[in-house]
Amino acid sequence: MTFADRSVLVTGANRGIGQALVEEALRRGAKRVYAGTRPPLAHPDERVTPLTLDVTDAAQIQAAVESVASLDVLINNAGVGLYADLSDRAALEQHLAVNLFGSYDTTQAFLPLLTRSRGTIVNVLSLAALAPVPLDPTYSISKAAAFSLTQSLRAALAGRGVAVHAVLSGPVDTDMGPRIDIPKASVESVALAILDAVENGDEEIFPDPLSASMAEGWRDSASKALERQMAAFVQAEPISS
Ligand SMILES: NC(=O)c1ccc[n+]([C@@H]2O[C@H](COP(=O)([O-])OP(=O)(O)OC[C@H]3O[C@@H](n4cnc5c(N)ncnc54)[C@H](OP(=O)(O)O)[C@@H]3O)[C@@H](O)[C@H]2O)c1
Repeated sequence: MTFADRSVLVTGANRGIGQALVEEALRRGAKRVYAGTRPPLAHPDERVTPLTLDVTDAAQIQAAVESVASLDVLINNAGVGLYADLSDRAALEQHLAVNLFGSYDTTQAFLPLLTRSRGTIVNVLSLAALAPVPLDPTYSISKAAAFSLTQSLRAALAGRGVAVHAVLSGPVDTDMGPRIDIPKASVESVALAILDAVENGDEEIFPDPLSASMAEGWRDSASKALERQMAAFVQAEPISS
Protein backbone atom coordinates (compact mmCIF):
# COMPACT_ATOMS: atom_id res chain seq x y z
CA MET A 1 0.00 0.00 0.00
CA THR A 2 1.27 3.49 -0.81
CA PHE A 3 -0.33 6.90 -0.37
CA ALA A 4 0.41 7.98 -3.93
CA ASP A 5 -2.82 8.57 -5.88
CA ARG A 6 -4.97 7.58 -2.89
CA SER A 7 -7.82 9.49 -1.30
CA VAL A 8 -7.34 9.99 2.41
CA LEU A 9 -9.57 11.42 5.14
CA VAL A 10 -8.00 12.75 8.35
CA THR A 11 -10.20 13.77 11.30
CA GLY A 12 -8.99 16.51 13.65
CA ALA A 13 -6.97 17.89 10.74
CA ASN A 14 -6.67 21.54 11.79
CA ARG A 15 -3.83 21.20 14.30
CA GLY A 16 -1.40 18.86 16.04
CA ILE A 17 -0.78 15.38 14.64
CA GLY A 18 -3.80 15.58 12.30
CA GLN A 19 -2.47 18.66 10.52
CA ALA A 20 0.93 16.97 10.11
CA LEU A 21 -0.75 13.82 8.71
CA VAL A 22 -2.46 15.93 6.04
CA GLU A 23 0.88 17.47 5.02
CA GLU A 24 2.64 14.07 4.99
CA ALA A 25 -0.10 12.46 2.85
CA LEU A 26 0.21 15.35 0.37
CA ARG A 27 4.01 14.98 0.32
CA ARG A 28 3.55 11.31 -0.60
CA GLY A 29 1.40 12.16 -3.60
CA ALA A 30 -2.12 11.55 -2.29
CA LYS A 31 -4.58 12.59 -5.01
CA ARG A 32 -7.20 13.89 -2.53
CA VAL A 33 -6.98 14.65 1.19
CA TYR A 34 -10.24 15.30 3.01
CA ALA A 35 -9.44 17.41 6.06
CA GLY A 36 -12.12 16.91 8.70
CA THR A 37 -12.29 19.85 11.09
CA ARG A 38 -14.71 21.58 13.46
CA PRO A 39 -13.63 25.15 12.59
CA PRO A 40 -13.59 26.16 8.90
CA LEU A 41 -10.29 25.35 7.15
CA ALA A 42 -8.56 26.91 4.15
CA HIS A 43 -5.60 25.10 2.59
CA PRO A 44 -3.44 26.30 -0.29
CA ASP A 45 -3.10 22.84 -1.89
CA GLU A 46 -6.01 22.19 -4.27
CA ARG A 47 -5.89 18.47 -3.44
CA VAL A 48 -7.22 19.30 0.05
CA THR A 49 -11.00 19.26 0.50
CA PRO A 50 -12.10 20.66 3.86
CA LEU A 51 -14.99 18.84 5.53
CA THR A 52 -16.92 20.18 8.51
CA LEU A 53 -16.69 17.18 10.78
CA ASP A 54 -17.31 17.02 14.48
CA VAL A 55 -17.01 13.27 15.05
CA THR A 56 -19.67 13.39 17.78
CA ASP A 57 -22.24 14.90 15.39
CA ALA A 58 -24.18 12.24 13.45
CA ALA A 59 -25.56 14.75 10.94
CA GLN A 60 -22.07 16.10 10.13
CA ILE A 61 -20.72 12.56 9.69
CA GLN A 62 -23.57 11.74 7.29
CA ALA A 63 -23.02 14.97 5.33
CA ALA A 64 -19.30 14.17 5.10
CA VAL A 65 -20.01 10.69 3.72
CA GLU A 66 -22.31 12.18 1.10
CA SER A 67 -19.63 14.60 -0.08
CA VAL A 68 -16.86 11.98 -0.46
CA ALA A 69 -16.95 10.12 -3.77
CA SER A 70 -14.42 7.43 -2.92
CA LEU A 71 -12.06 6.75 -0.04
CA ASP A 72 -8.95 4.61 0.34
CA VAL A 73 -7.70 5.60 3.81
CA LEU A 74 -9.62 6.80 6.87
CA ILE A 75 -7.43 8.19 9.67
CA ASN A 76 -9.38 8.53 12.92
CA ASN A 77 -7.11 11.07 14.59
CA ALA A 78 -9.53 13.46 16.36
CA GLY A 79 -9.25 13.12 20.10
CA VAL A 80 -9.50 14.83 23.45
CA GLY A 81 -7.32 14.59 26.55
CA LEU A 82 -8.87 16.34 29.52
CA TYR A 83 -6.49 15.34 32.33
CA ALA A 84 -9.44 14.57 34.61
CA ASP A 85 -9.66 12.66 37.84
CA LEU A 86 -11.04 9.11 37.81
CA SER A 87 -14.01 10.28 39.90
CA ASP A 88 -15.07 12.65 37.10
CA ARG A 89 -17.80 10.69 35.30
CA ALA A 90 -18.58 13.54 32.88
CA ALA A 91 -14.95 13.54 31.73
CA LEU A 92 -15.07 9.79 31.16
CA GLU A 93 -18.21 10.21 29.06
CA GLN A 94 -16.61 13.01 27.03
CA HIS A 95 -13.48 10.93 26.39
CA LEU A 96 -15.62 7.99 25.30
CA ALA A 97 -17.83 10.23 23.12
CA VAL A 98 -14.88 11.49 21.07
CA ASN A 99 -12.11 8.90 21.39
CA LEU A 100 -14.29 5.78 21.17
CA PHE A 101 -17.71 6.57 19.71
CA GLY A 102 -16.38 9.34 17.43
CA SER A 103 -14.04 6.86 15.74
CA TYR A 104 -16.68 4.12 15.82
CA ASP A 105 -19.39 6.24 14.18
CA THR A 106 -17.04 7.72 11.58
CA THR A 107 -15.75 4.27 10.68
CA GLN A 108 -19.21 2.73 10.40
CA ALA A 109 -20.34 5.59 8.17
CA PHE A 110 -17.39 5.29 5.78
CA LEU A 111 -17.26 1.48 5.78
CA PRO A 112 -19.16 1.04 2.49
CA LEU A 113 -16.62 3.27 0.71
CA LEU A 114 -13.68 1.56 2.43
CA THR A 115 -14.85 -1.95 1.60
CA ARG A 116 -15.43 -0.89 -2.01
CA SER A 117 -11.82 0.33 -2.26
CA ARG A 118 -10.45 -2.52 -0.08
CA GLY A 119 -9.07 0.36 1.91
CA THR A 120 -7.30 1.13 5.15
CA ILE A 121 -8.38 2.37 8.58
CA VAL A 122 -5.83 4.01 10.89
CA ASN A 123 -6.91 4.66 14.48
CA VAL A 124 -4.67 7.10 16.32
CA LEU A 125 -4.59 5.73 19.87
CA SER A 126 -1.89 6.04 22.50
CA LEU A 127 0.43 3.98 24.68
CA ALA A 128 -2.27 4.72 27.28
CA ALA A 129 -4.30 2.02 25.49
CA LEU A 130 -1.80 -0.55 26.77
CA ALA A 131 -1.12 0.84 30.25
CA PRO A 132 -3.05 3.68 31.87
CA VAL A 133 -1.42 7.06 32.34
CA PRO A 134 -2.03 7.89 36.04
CA LEU A 135 -2.38 11.61 35.21
CA ASP A 136 -5.24 10.94 32.79
CA PRO A 137 -7.14 7.76 33.71
CA THR A 138 -10.42 8.51 31.92
CA TYR A 139 -8.47 9.26 28.70
CA SER A 140 -6.65 5.94 29.15
CA ILE A 141 -9.93 4.03 29.51
CA SER A 142 -11.21 5.53 26.25
CA LYS A 143 -8.01 4.67 24.38
CA ALA A 144 -8.01 1.10 25.74
CA ALA A 145 -11.60 0.71 24.52
CA ALA A 146 -10.68 2.19 21.15
CA PHE A 147 -7.79 -0.28 20.90
CA SER A 148 -10.20 -3.17 21.43
CA LEU A 149 -12.47 -1.63 18.78
CA THR A 150 -9.46 -1.48 16.43
CA GLN A 151 -8.61 -5.15 17.00
CA SER A 152 -12.26 -6.16 16.55
CA LEU A 153 -12.52 -4.23 13.28
CA ARG A 154 -9.29 -5.81 12.05
CA ALA A 155 -10.65 -9.30 12.60
CA ALA A 156 -14.08 -8.47 11.19
CA LEU A 157 -12.81 -6.70 8.07
CA ALA A 158 -9.86 -8.89 7.12
CA GLY A 159 -12.08 -11.02 4.90
CA ARG A 160 -13.22 -7.90 3.02
CA GLY A 161 -9.68 -6.74 2.33
CA VAL A 162 -9.73 -3.73 4.67
CA ALA A 163 -6.54 -3.27 6.73
CA VAL A 164 -6.88 -1.79 10.23
CA HIS A 165 -3.95 -0.17 12.06
CA ALA A 166 -3.53 1.04 15.65
CA VAL A 167 -1.16 3.93 16.34
CA LEU A 168 0.22 3.48 19.86
CA SER A 169 2.00 6.77 20.25
CA GLY A 170 4.05 8.03 23.15
CA PRO A 171 4.36 11.76 24.02
CA VAL A 172 4.09 14.21 21.14
CA ASP A 173 4.63 17.96 21.24
CA THR A 174 1.05 19.23 20.74
CA ASP A 175 -1.57 21.10 22.75
CA MET A 176 -2.65 17.74 24.15
CA GLY A 177 0.85 16.43 24.83
CA PRO A 178 1.89 15.63 28.41
CA ARG A 179 2.14 18.66 30.68
CA ILE A 180 5.27 17.37 32.34
CA ASP A 181 8.87 17.97 31.35
CA ILE A 182 9.67 14.84 29.34
CA PRO A 183 10.96 14.48 25.77
CA LYS A 184 8.17 14.81 23.22
CA ALA A 185 8.37 13.85 19.54
CA SER A 186 7.58 16.43 16.85
CA VAL A 187 4.31 16.13 14.95
CA GLU A 188 6.25 15.96 11.66
CA SER A 189 8.36 12.97 12.77
CA VAL A 190 5.29 11.17 14.13
CA ALA A 191 3.24 11.73 10.95
CA LEU A 192 6.12 10.47 8.83
CA ALA A 193 6.55 7.36 11.00
CA ILE A 194 2.79 6.62 10.95
CA LEU A 195 2.51 6.76 7.18
CA ASP A 196 5.75 4.75 6.74
CA ALA A 197 4.34 2.04 9.01
CA VAL A 198 0.96 1.99 7.20
CA GLU A 199 2.79 1.57 3.89
CA ASN A 200 4.84 -1.19 5.53
CA GLY A 201 1.69 -3.00 6.73
CA ASP A 202 2.47 -2.78 10.47
CA GLU A 203 -0.72 -3.56 12.42
CA GLU A 204 0.50 -1.72 15.53
CA ILE A 205 2.43 1.47 14.90
CA PHE A 206 4.91 2.88 17.44
CA PRO A 207 5.80 6.24 15.86
CA ASP A 208 8.05 8.00 18.40
CA PRO A 209 11.26 7.10 20.26
CA LEU A 210 9.51 6.12 23.52
CA SER A 211 6.91 3.85 21.92
CA ALA A 212 9.36 2.51 19.32
CA SER A 213 11.36 0.88 22.12
CA MET A 214 8.29 -1.34 22.76
CA ALA A 215 7.58 -2.38 19.19
CA GLU A 216 9.54 -5.61 19.08
CA GLY A 217 8.34 -6.74 22.52
CA TRP A 218 4.72 -6.08 21.50
CA ARG A 219 4.92 -8.08 18.28
CA ASP A 220 6.24 -11.12 20.20
CA SER A 221 3.88 -10.62 23.15
CA ALA A 222 1.29 -13.00 24.57
CA SER A 223 -1.40 -10.36 23.83
CA LYS A 224 -0.53 -10.23 20.14
CA ALA A 225 -0.34 -14.01 19.93
CA LEU A 226 -3.80 -14.25 21.51
CA GLU A 227 -5.22 -11.68 19.08
CA ARG A 228 -3.96 -13.81 16.16
CA GLN A 229 -5.45 -16.94 17.74
CA MET A 230 -8.83 -15.23 18.24
CA ALA A 231 -8.74 -13.90 14.66
CA ALA A 232 -8.44 -17.46 13.40
CA PHE A 233 -11.84 -18.22 14.99
CA VAL A 234 -13.39 -15.24 13.19
CA GLN A 235 -12.03 -16.42 9.84
CA ALA A 236 -13.63 -19.81 10.48
CA GLU A 237 -16.93 -18.19 11.59
CA PRO A 238 -17.28 -14.68 10.02
CA ILE A 239 -19.02 -12.00 12.10
CA SER A 240 -20.69 -8.88 10.75
CA SER A 241 -18.99 -5.57 11.49
N1 LIG B 1 0.03 14.57 21.89
C1 LIG B 1 0.31 13.40 22.42
O1 LIG B 1 1.21 13.27 23.28
C2 LIG B 1 -0.45 12.17 21.99
C3 LIG B 1 0.05 10.93 22.37
C4 LIG B 1 -0.62 9.78 21.98
C5 LIG B 1 -1.76 9.88 21.20
N2 LIG B 1 -2.24 11.10 20.85
C6 LIG B 1 -3.47 11.12 20.05
O2 LIG B 1 -3.24 11.81 18.84
C7 LIG B 1 -4.47 12.35 18.35
C8 LIG B 1 -4.25 13.82 17.98
O3 LIG B 1 -3.92 14.51 19.17
P1 LIG B 1 -2.95 15.78 19.19
O4 LIG B 1 -1.85 15.47 20.13
O5 LIG B 1 -2.64 16.21 17.79
O6 LIG B 1 -3.92 16.80 19.94
P2 LIG B 1 -4.41 18.28 19.61
O7 LIG B 1 -3.31 19.11 19.07
O8 LIG B 1 -5.10 18.70 20.86
O9 LIG B 1 -5.48 18.06 18.44
C9 LIG B 1 -6.69 17.37 18.68
C10 LIG B 1 -7.49 17.43 17.40
O10 LIG B 1 -8.70 16.68 17.60
C11 LIG B 1 -9.78 17.54 17.24
N3 LIG B 1 -11.02 17.21 17.93
C12 LIG B 1 -11.28 17.18 19.26
N4 LIG B 1 -12.56 16.86 19.47
C13 LIG B 1 -13.13 16.69 18.25
C14 LIG B 1 -14.43 16.35 17.78
N5 LIG B 1 -15.46 16.12 18.63
N6 LIG B 1 -14.64 16.24 16.45
C15 LIG B 1 -13.65 16.46 15.57
N7 LIG B 1 -12.40 16.82 15.93
C16 LIG B 1 -12.15 16.90 17.26
C17 LIG B 1 -9.31 18.94 17.58
O11 LIG B 1 -10.13 19.89 16.93
P3 LIG B 1 -10.43 21.36 17.57
O12 LIG B 1 -9.28 22.24 17.15
O13 LIG B 1 -11.73 21.74 16.95
O14 LIG B 1 -10.50 21.18 19.06
C18 LIG B 1 -7.90 18.87 17.05
O15 LIG B 1 -7.88 19.02 15.66
C19 LIG B 1 -5.50 12.16 19.47
O16 LIG B 1 -6.33 11.06 19.19
C20 LIG B 1 -4.62 11.87 20.70
O17 LIG B 1 -5.29 11.11 21.66
C21 LIG B 1 -1.60 12.25 21.22
